[in-house]
Amino acid sequence: MTQGADMLALVVAEVRPLTPAIKAFVLRSANGGDLPPFAPGAHLSVQIAESSGQRAYSLVRPHDGSGSYEIAVLHEPQGSGGSAWMHGLAPGAVLAAHPPRNDFALHQGVRPLLVAGGIGITPLLCMARALAAEGQAFDFFYATRSEDATAYLDEVRALGGTVVHDGGNPARGLDLRALLAAPRSGRHLHVCGPRGMVQAVVDTARAQGWPDDHVHFELFAGALAQAGDMPFEVRTLRSGKTLTVAPGQTLLDVLIAAGLDPMYDCRQGDCGVCAVDVVEGVPDHRDHNLSPREKAGGKTLCTCVSRAKTPHLVLDI
Ligand code: FES
Repeated sequence: MTQGADMLALVVAEVRPLTPAIKAFVLRSANGGDLPPFAPGAHLSVQIAESSGQRAYSLVRPHDGSGSYEIAVLHEPQGSGGSAWMHGLAPGAVLAAHPPRNDFALHQGVRPLLVAGGIGITPLLCMARALAAEGQAFDFFYATRSEDATAYLDEVRALGGTVVHDGGNPARGLDLRALLAAPRSGRHLHVCGPRGMVQAVVDTARAQGWPDDHVHFELFAGALAQAGDMPFEVRTLRSGKTLTVAPGQTLLDVLIAAGLDPMYDCRQGDCGVCAVDVVEGVPDHRDHNLSPREKAGGKTLCTCVSRAKTPHLVLDI
């Protein structure tokens, strides 16, 4: 993906280690101008120079007109290189990013409930700070593996958040049934974290009677299984394979497991790097990259998040 004319040129003003694996980056406009405003829950899509892909990083501090953005990045040694590239940046480095976009808006309603897992703290901390600044009541829960691995621990506690450490065993983390036991009209749940944790929170909320339009989530990779997801079969035209994608699996993972070498980058439907041509069948689009027109045309599909509305797809790969 090339750098578009609408992209922001940003300079790294500060790099701050938050944990051994997480660094905060304060970014300013490279030309000294103002930066576009945003609402809590928004993210920046940063261009990763070496892979030509992009990564989405949530903004940690509410927009305050100070001319800076803060993001936090978890170094993932098994990832595809974006976090390593970010962790290599030093103050003075210049990078490009799309202006903030918000796919995870804060719904204030009645006493919002904020639930974070690991690096998923970033958009929720922004929401909590905004709510606290407005004097709004909210409930805030944050699960991490250990105290050492906890970014923004003091800030979350200062905001009244409850922090639990599960030692890597989610069963020892938040008591979701208790936490979500009392859905209330007008009360919105916001959750961000690893896919398994978000899936567990969303499933528990639904089981406890939270209406779907009061449950808001953001993932860092893949897509949540949706009620009614069915297995579907994929035939790869050029490589001659017939594969089955089960509910809860991504098409991208199935292609990789079958020995293909598909292109991908963000794994969350943002960058479009994984898009492939559809020869037969109807895609069930779950990405944020394709335009409404491209989605309606049904000729392209992002393998990292999208599925099929028909029992079979034929892909030109
Ligand atoms: S890998 Fe980025 S949209 Fe699929």
